[in-house]
Amino acid sequence: MEYRRLGSTGVKIAPIVLGTMQMGWRVEEEESFKIMDKALELGINCFDTADVYSYWADNSYPGKTEEIIGRWLKDRDTRDDLVLATKLRGTMSDDINNRGLSRRHVHQAIKASLRRLQTDWIDLYQIHSFDNDVPIEETLHALNILVDDGLVNYIGASNIHPWMLVESFWVSQKNGYVRFETVQPPYSIVRRMLVEHQMEHVIKKYGLGVIPYSPLAGGFLTDRYSRDGPIPDTPRSEGAQKRYFTEKRWAIHETVKEIADVKEAKMTQVAIAWILAKDFITAPIVGANSVEQLEDNLGALEISLDEDEIKRLDEVSDWVADYEALR
Ligand SMILES: NC(=O)c1ccc[n+]([C@@H]2O[C@H](COP(=O)([O-])OP(=O)(O)OC[C@H]3O[C@@H](n4cnc5c(N)ncnc54)[C@H](OP(=O)(O)O)[C@@H]3O)[C@@H](O)[C@H]2O)c1
Repeated sequence: MEYRRLGSTGVKIAPIVLGTMQMGWRVEEEESFKIMDKALELGINCFDTADVYSYWADNSYPGKTEEIIGRWLKDRDTRDDLVLATKLRGTMSDDINNRGLSRRHVHQAIKASLRRLQTDWIDLYQIHSFDNDVPIEETLHALNILVDDGLVNYIGASNIHPWMLVESFWVSQKNGYVRFETVQPPYSIVRRMLVEHQMEHVIKKYGLGVIPYSPLAGGFLTDRYSRDGPIPDTPRSEGAQKRYFTEKRWAIHETVKEIADVKEAKMTQVAIAWILAKDFITAPIVGANSVEQLEDNLGALEISLDEDEIKRLDEVSDWVADYEALR
């Protein structure tokens, strides 16, 4: 496994991060343990989770996924082997203050995540998204204390606009606080503009680590979906239909499939390999509902796309002309 520096930090991670959002939702605890075992065995050393996972699932609640991971860490005694990333910001209860990015909630959230994860520290603590009701100075001050206290090693930001990120850097620099070292945006071959339009420039200029989520577009970039085929029976298919069932996305889907067929690879592997070929990406966060899916997806590290294949994929998924037409 060729490990990569996480942005400008001194820590190194594998080129694929294990996503855990489906643990406690699509995947029971027993299979979750097997997926985490297999990921670690195959050299994946960074896991991503969030305090709110998986509140939306039947018979679930915010914190359930972190609890599963915590039991696994304890049972397997693996905490030292992992770069553990979690997030805060989501609604944890009906209490109006048990959410967001206030100093009060930052201190509340870290304690609760550490307890559920059965650990003394978080390697990468990310804001899940921005909180417009809280000055960024307050949030960064609170996060800085966590780093000073050794509870957190690095901080990162998910679902953030480029201008907010740059503003946060000014605040960090002015006050001598740590800065966001990573970003976690959605990014895939069917969802490029959000990152490539402006964020890519900020990433490169400030040397940020990039761990994008939904690299398979929540499952759309698999052969379970096809233009004329039945819609897969999965809770994520409704979202996939709304977001991705467009002429352009089907053309991308079909190109990924054609290239995968020629290479005797899986569509998932081509979709992930295309992301890995981008020079500003550190490691996509891959979700898997089984050990088999995980092994399939990690196969992306074994294939490489040649120049022509990348050109075809870049062209079919190009967004610049569409954007220019709207300007
Ligand atoms: N920061 C954020 O706001 C945010 C948001 C979303 C996710 N995330 C993080 O990113 C991680 C990944 O996100 P994601 O789940 O959306 O990623 P994804 O890799 O785009 O989608 C994962 C889904 O694709 C399907 N899949 C995966 N491997 C497959 C395979 N080999 N064959 C067939 N189908 C396969 C499964 O769908 P089915 O369930 O339909 O079987 C799985 O749930 C999450 O676990 C979480 O850690 C962060």
